[in-house]
Amino acid sequence: MNAVKDVFRPGLLQGRHALITGAGSGINKRIAERFAEHGASISIIGRNPEKCFTAALDIEGRGGQAAGFAADVRHYDALEAAFKHARERFGPVDICIAGAAGNFVAEAAAMSSNGFRTVIDIDLVGCFNTFRAALPMLREEGADLLAISAVQSSLPMSAQAHVCAAKAGIDMLVRSLSIEWGPRGIRCNAIAPGPVAGTEGMDRLAPDGERSWKRLLEGIPMGRAGERDEIADLALFLCSGAARYINGTVVAIDGGQVNLGSLPFGSMLMESLKPAKA
Ligand code: COA
Repeated sequence: MNAVKDVFRPGLLQGRHALITGAGSGINKRIAERFAEHGASISIIGRNPEKCFTAALDIEGRGGQAAGFAADVRHYDALEAAFKHARERFGPVDICIAGAAGNFVAEAAAMSSNGFRTVIDIDLVGCFNTFRAALPMLREEGADLLAISAVQSSLPMSAQAHVCAAKAGIDMLVRSLSIEWGPRGIRCNAIAPGPVAGTEGMDRLAPDGERSWKRLLEGIPMGRAGERDEIADLALFLCSGAARYINGTVVAIDGGQVNLGSLPFGSMLMESLKPAKA
């Protein structure tokens, strides 16, 4: 395993089993790698079997412990079956991260009911399914649940009504579960990233590359995109003993974007929907 070059002491998650949905790519994959660097066994759950297995092999190739299990978070029975296999492989679950998400850029008026529901199903219902199916498999005292929300949960944004509604729902779900499951020693939190470079999500949201990025960075006080490592570090902190009294919180990690509003980001998305000029 590569030496851990970070501010955390090595082996922070030694002996823990982390189950992460959507970890075949992007932010969630980096979280999976980071947690493995810190000694956790990783179960990667995703709807694309090849992506899951490849991500697990990558981690194993770097000396970590990981396995991929294919399931779509929209399908409860398949998800539950995958989690059972994961528990057979690595034991009771200590950490469960609901990271699977779907997004596309579309105005509400151009979106079908099914288009809206698809994102609600993947993001919000998928988050509930993930935590609900994981519940009986958790090592209860000290188990950590973490949802990957987004800046859209608190910032209304053009061409993102479906995502804003789904992510706002996730924030309230996490806060509600923290009340119901806190007494059982289960903490439930969320992180709300702004734009993160090098992810499929941002490839979809910033289709014009540099031009789109320049525009949306005007809405971020720190003037730059987030990095996958920065999101993984926050997840690591929230799933470590250092965060043992943090429960029911949504932590923004967006360079201050929520304080400036969504106008630059939203206008860039709306522009990307206009037909290209000849
Ligand atoms: N604009 C408007 N509607 C769209 C759309 C777009 N750009 N993309 C998809 N939809 C609609 C479809 O038309 C369909 O509705 P309909 O049946 O009324 O026509 C509905 O959404 C479902 O689309 P479908 O492609 O069948 O869903 P899927 O389950 O295969 O894919 C998505 C889910 C739509 C979220 C797809 O974008 C996806 O696979 N995303 C996963 C990866 C991702 O988004 N990663 C980034 C996470 S931040």
